[in-house]
Amino acid sequence: MAYKNIDVKPVAGALGAEIEGVALNDNLDNETFDDIHQAFLDHQVIFFRNQDLSPEAHIRFGRRFGSLNIHPYVKGMAGHEEIMEIIKEPDERENFGGGWHSDMSFQEEPALGSILHSIEVPPYGGDTLFASQSAAYDALSEGMKDMLDGMIAIHTAEKEYGRKGHSAMQRAGMQVEQQEEGTVPKFEHPVVRTHPQTGRKALYVNSAFTMHFKNMTRRESRPLLQFLFEHATQEQFTCRFRWTPGAVAFWDNRAVQHYALNDYHGHRRHMRRVTINGDRPR
Ligand code: SIN
Repeated sequence: MAYKNIDVKPVAGALGAEIEGVALNDNLDNETFDDIHQAFLDHQVIFFRNQDLSPEAHIRFGRRFGSLNIHPYVKGMAGHEEIMEIIKEPDERENFGGGWHSDMSFQEEPALGSILHSIEVPPYGGDTLFASQSAAYDALSEGMKDMLDGMIAIHTAEKEYGRKGHSAMQRAGMQVEQQEEGTVPKFEHPVVRTHPQTGRKALYVNSAFTMHFKNMTRRESRPLLQFLFEHATQEQFTCRFRWTPGAVAFWDNRAVQHYALNDYHGHRRHMRRVTINGDRPR
């Protein structure tokens, strides 16, 4: 793919590219914005280094892609409720996002994308892993694809934001409202979704928020779900981002799962995220 104003360097075979030659803090001209948008669609997760991004500029950049999500359970940054602060202090053992997931799949219209900016990074560790769910879908047998196409799964935040998950989030330093069991909404999403812009099919189940298949019990759903969770996050579908201060990762939640590694106890990590609203998966 040819880009006019940016350099795009893929970081792995399945997904991910580092973008050079752009400052996100400037008012991006439309041509450069179109390049970035195209690179995002082409590579599913894109990375930028050394971005001096104020909270206002972060929000401004995010809004060019759509309206921003206000998280229903996690308190936003003071004065900027669209920004989620993800901070792990040296004495904390749990982290936020430490498991494979797609952001906000527990909502009726889950997130289009997330833009994460690093403020402070540990001296080692704290990388984020990404896995291409379209590459994972493509690698399935025709028989498995036929079976999954048309299946529906139930997503909910009950596990992550109910009593047990809430305690873990609090231990991870997040300001989270605990949800009563049985009151957290459940939504149906296709197991295989078609990307509204690229037309590529992708798996759309994740171990944080997908509970079971429609019209099946959890016990009945477990073997196939477990296979899909493991299949979808195999090494050949992943890339890994090593954070530096001021780096930005922008991923497409419609096509990617991600995982924040928790391997830097004793050190501080501070990130800010804005999340772009998406549409109903189809
Ligand atoms: C997340 O959005 O799940 C957190 C990712 C990270 O902190 O690397």
